[in-house]
Amino acid sequence: MNREQENFRKQQPQTFGKRFNTRLIHGGKPFVSEAREVITPIYTTSTFRQKSFSDHSGYGYARGQNPTREAAETLVADLENAAYGFGFSSGMAAIDAALHVFSSGDTVLVLGNVYGGTDGLFRAVYENFGIHGREIIVEDTGISGDYQKKVLEAVKAAVTTEVKGIYFETPSNPTLAVLDMEEIVDTAKKYGLVTIVDNTFSSPYIQKPLDFGIDIVVESATKYLGGHSDLIAGFAVTNREDLAQKISSAQHLAGGILPPFDSYLLVRSIKTLSVRLDRQVENAVKLVRFLEENDAVDLVHYPGLPADPGYAIQRKQARNGGAMFSFLLNQRYDVGTFLDSLQIFTDGASLGGVESLIGHSASTSQRGVPEEQRQKLGILDNLIRVSPGIEDGEDLVADFQQAFARARKE
Ligand SMILES: Cc1ncc(COP(=O)(O)O)c(C=O)c1O
Repeated sequence: MNREQENFRKQQPQTFGKRFNTRLIHGGKPFVSEAREVITPIYTTSTFRQKSFSDHSGYGYARGQNPTREAAETLVADLENAAYGFGFSSGMAAIDAALHVFSSGDTVLVLGNVYGGTDGLFRAVYENFGIHGREIIVEDTGISGDYQKKVLEAVKAAVTTEVKGIYFETPSNPTLAVLDMEEIVDTAKKYGLVTIVDNTFSSPYIQKPLDFGIDIVVESATKYLGGHSDLIAGFAVTNREDLAQKISSAQHLAGGILPPFDSYLLVRSIKTLSVRLDRQVENAVKLVRFLEENDAVDLVHYPGLPADPGYAIQRKQARNGGAMFSFLLNQRYDVGTFLDSLQIFTDGASLGGVESLIGHSASTSQRGVPEEQRQKLGILDNLIRVSPGIEDGEDLVADFQQAFARARKE
């Protein structure tokens, strides 16, 4: 057995089968030493003693395997209903490793809005290696219900022999556009394309893309999985052994592994994922209801709203509308004054933390996306993205209320 096979062999068997909240606490494959600890310890070792000259079984060099990282990897795989899970030092490193399933000359169709960093990765890095991210940009005003149909038509029209994959987010960042995963998988299968979904906005508590036939799920664990705005991490999970082999090689050969301390923090944070998200979704619904009625707001993007064009698809494939939403501030209000006047919300470029975060996507996460493309995708200068935390919802509504009053121009 060579080193690569040895690393791959360390990937986990499926341990799922119990209900979700039980899996949050007991899922994955915690490592238990002879001391029989309840929690997998933080293994800060760069290498492991070989059992003997000829026995290379078990742990070797810690870039390849680390028990604390494996506890996190098996747990996230378990939650996503995946057979294989890989932990990375950031969400971007996870996305990068997943894109290693493609080869030079391949084209990947990138559907609609994706995180600005992903867009940048295709443009600034993969293009140089001959892997082309071809954007499928369908005008998305957030008010018409035919977005899914138009995207599917555009995908079919774009397929050539070079096209080998489809990459997308649902709901997307930052306009919360929803795509039907089953329909996209059906189309992908017809053309033999690998499908990759970024599940950052939902986490496996809200939706599990592999259940709909998606091949690889990537996610920034910096967000809901970490949940406390104190770490940067990412995962890639799959049920396909052929793809897992490639991601495994990218992980330990390119080396962007999830460190042991962050692995430990993640396992700890994941225990409260559903408890946190239940409150965050509740707060999102409270805020969205308030914004819908408010004349400071032109449009709210939230797939948990029956009026939202993504509502029916979201209901089919997710537990609820999730905790993220965005809205267009009316022109009579000043975006900067609104953001600067908030007292509870933090204006910061992240999401999914226990503290409420808010941001202006056009000048932060999506600033690298060309202006013309941003306009088409609805990432307008008055678009504000919101990630409610677990504070009292009434206080969050009151914070918006006072900031609107200050931001009114006339
Ligand atoms: C949807 C989405 N995917 C991926 C990433 C990248 O994750 P990270 O910052 O952990 O590298 C982000 C970060 O904001 C994101 O919002």
